[in-house]
Amino acid sequence: MPEFVKPFSGMVPRKMTKEELIRAMRLNMAAELEAVHLYMAHADATDDELAHTVLIEIADEERVHVGEFMEMIRRLDPEEQRFLDEGQGEVAQNAARLGAEAAGEAAEGASSGSGLTIGSLREAE
Ligand SMILES: [Fe+2]
Repeated sequence: MPEFVKPFSGMVPRKMTKEELIRAMRLNMAAELEAVHLYMAHADATDDELAHTVLIEIADEERVHVGEFMEMIRRLDPEEQRFLDEGQGEVAQNAARLGAEAAGEAAEGASSGSGLTIGSLREAE
């Protein structure tokens, strides 16, 4: 499991400050993400249908826990939402730029008579 700099692995000898609690929530979220990765990897690596199903179900439960910890961090740290919004905005900008580039590539492919492109397949959706 992730330990970062071991802020509070194992027993915590006293009550945490708010800042320590925020850091603990980040560590908890990282542990959940690691569990999701582990269970999905194990599900992918087995032909046993029951084991695959159970592992995916547990991985999905851990994904819910990720959301709970993220929400706790957001509530405990008022600045968190600004950073989340900034990250979402940066991805949206890249998606928009790439979408425009893909649309340009599709038009280029159509004019050259090359047939299907990624862009043309997107348009078919
Ligand atoms: Fe969990």
